[in-house]
Amino acid sequence: MSEGNYLVGVDIGSSAIKLCQLKDVQKKKALVKFGYAPLPPQTIVDGEVMNQSVVVETLQKLFSDLKVKRRDVALSVSGHSVIIKRLTLPLMTNQELSEQITWEAEQQIPFEIKDVHLDYEVLRRRPDQGQMDVLLVAAKRDELELTAELARQAKLKPAVIDVDAFAVQNIFEVNYGLPTDGTFALINVGATLTTINIIAGGVPAFTRDIANGGQSLTDEIQRQLGVSAEEAEIYKNATPENLTRGAIVPSEVPKIIRQVVDSLAGEVQRSLDFYLATSGEREIQQVYLTGGTSNLPELSQAIERRSQCKCEQLNPFREIQVDPKEVNTELLRARAAQATVALGLALRKDREKR
Ligand SMILES: Nc1ncnc2c1ncn2[C@@H]1O[C@H](COP(=O)(O)OP(=O)(O)OP(=O)(O)O)[C@@H](O)[C@H]1O
Ligand SMILES: [Mg+2]
Repeated sequence: MSEGNYLVGVDIGSSAIKLCQLKDVQKKKALVKFGYAPLPPQTIVDGEVMNQSVVVETLQKLFSDLKVKRRDVALSVSGHSVIIKRLTLPLMTNQELSEQITWEAEQQIPFEIKDVHLDYEVLRRRPDQGQMDVLLVAAKRDELELTAELARQAKLKPAVIDVDAFAVQNIFEVNYGLPTDGTFALINVGATLTTINIIAGGVPAFTRDIANGGQSLTDEIQRQLGVSAEEAEIYKNATPENLTRGAIVPSEVPKIIRQVVDSLAGEVQRSLDFYLATSGEREIQQVYLTGGTSNLPELSQAIERRSQCKCEQLNPFREIQVDPKEVNTELLRARAAQATVALGLALRKDREKR
């Protein structure tokens, strides 16, 4: 990564805003700020911001409570406003590609080209086959503009807008390296969105966002037991350690969790199967899970059972130090899986070329 200062990584998720800031300390990356601010229900629905002022106020409060001085931020978009495609094209020069990419994009994406911002990267040139692999990213301009505008209204300077799946990939690479052989999947299961990124031979081979996540578990517990959303959330997250003394979880809860998680794992499996069928590859060796819903052990068990491959929770802080004087380590421990996207965004620097 090139010279420059780390931007503040800000992930505006539908359940909460997460903030991470890094600093290099003796050549190692160290987390110096971490913030987590839940958003009230209905603030963001189906990826759409319904209440902009709540988001803006929450952002401002996060920055002032944590005393984050830097205002330059890296943000992200995801869901149905982003399309990521890997294209196989005839071998051509960068100049030829830059002239052709818009035409290629027109064939490949279901949006009007004038409504999207296009980005692309040559993944690999394969001269012996006369082909090259190109990653095409198309993000809706109005969504990018809205995300930037929310930040500006909170007196922040949007410097970079990335895509959730790539923020996860970047932080994965810092912590685990990017193996150039084999195939593995990075799956971020949030509240209302699940992003899948399959990496083969060290480059993204397939990405897909599924409009489902942990919120459907809360909804189902709420519906079946006739309890409030808050109660349902407590039951869902209950472990022997975090239950207040004397509290009991209704006996139906584990069964509801298993059922909903299993159908979520089924949706994930359909995407993995689709990839295997279309790529001609035999297997995915490993799945790494992150996002708040990856805290449920039932999820990795269900994915493992269906996909027959190893599944573990990604540790976004494996190679990153945490400054205990600056960071609330207890909060971070509880929210580590939810910090992944913000931490991946916090790797971005100003003045960097991508
Ligand atoms: N310990 C836990 N056990 C079970 N579920 C949890 C736990 N911690 C968080 N969650 C769930 O994780 C979800 C939030 O995760 P995350 O912060 O990754 O999502 P988000 O980024 O806000 O949402 P999205 O990306 O879907 O818009 C919520 O559904 C929450 O209930
Ligand atoms: Mg998220």
